[in-house]
Amino acid sequence: MKVIGLLFGMEQTFPPALVERINSMDTGNVRAEFVRVGGIKMAELMKYDVILDRISQDIPFYRSMLKTAALGGTRVVNNPFWWSADDKFFNYSLAAKIGVPVPKTVLLPTKEHPPGTSAESMRNLIYPLNWEEIFEYVGFPAFLKPHDGGGWKNVYKVHDEREFFEAYNETGTITMTLQESIEFTEYYRCYVVGKKYVHIMPYEPRNPHHLRYVAGFSLTEQRKKQVEELCLKLVDALGYDFDTIEFAVRDDVPYAIDYLNPAPDAEITSVHQENFDWIVQTSALFLIEQAQLGRMVPKEYSWSNIMYMQDSDVLRKAAQKKSGSPAARKR
Ligand SMILES: Nc1ncnc2c1ncn2[C@@H]1O[C@H](COP(=O)(O)OP(=O)(O)O)[C@@H](O)[C@H]1O
Ligand SMILES: [Mg+2]
Repeated sequence: MKVIGLLFGMEQTFPPALVERINSMDTGNVRAEFVRVGGIKMAELMKYDVILDRISQDIPFYRSMLKTAALGGTRVVNNPFWWSADDKFFNYSLAAKIGVPVPKTVLLPTKEHPPGTSAESMRNLIYPLNWEEIFEYVGFPAFLKPHDGGGWKNVYKVHDEREFFEAYNETGTITMTLQESIEFTEYYRCYVVGKKYVHIMPYEPRNPHHLRYVAGFSLTEQRKKQVEELCLKLVDALGYDFDTIEFAVRDDVPYAIDYLNPAPDAEITSVHQENFDWIVQTSALFLIEQAQLGRMVPKEYSWSNIMYMQDSDVLRKAAQKKSGSPAARKR
């Protein structure tokens, strides 16, 4: 029997619906449950073949546990190593390189010195910055927002230099970006699962929270194709198996705005029934696919080769533990 574990925090509706859906499907050899963990012994082999991680961004203990789980071949969705390394500014640069339209964006040094540092720690910094050049590149209106954040925290829309400095002065030690505002006519939030399933949701971020999925525009076939292609291009580059990607459309061009969302909101109360049904069903199918593929140690790290040499040992032990027989091993 393959086991899918769900790791989650305050969510109420998505995790139980997903467990129930997986367990109601006629898979023959896969079941799902909520992850249960206590103190983790080093190099411990976890019982889960797959874990869907919805919360390690807030709980560093879980992030560390997931890296160890991956070392034992548990397929962690999303990859905890890449998620730890990733940030939104890098992602804007990456999108620009691979030909996905993104708003012009500049990374800014923090307003205040990070804790425990002084001006001397930042000797390499040009000071004062050449603000004129930055403003000329980005233009106004613009968004001042964290280089790595979420939940609309510390996001400011600024219309001129005065508003910019007022906002920037409030940002303390948070690393911020200044980004061209896309004055959009359409906006889409897209679930992208398993780097292949895409669900595009018209979204109106200017509406109050409960009305954001009620947008005054609809998705044409042409836009659908265009947005789907951009979504797949981005997740292929980023490697996320569970993500949402947001686009703001200006003059027929979808600009990628926010796509580092490896644990995106999937509560029925915010996304509504139809979108909820899609994400529950698609996640169930994808996680079952992953479980049936069996354990796999990530391939792309310096230690991966060493793990592969030991791999047979690790996986044999896992199979033995489950079935008592080395022959039960499957990859
Ligand atoms: N460059 C931009 N152009 C237009 N709207 C933007 C831009 N950047 C952010 N926004 C608006 O602000 C919201 C929050 O910004 P976002 O980058 O998604 O940060 P967070 O990760 O905190 O959600 C977006 O959903 C969008 O409505
Ligand atoms: Mg966002």
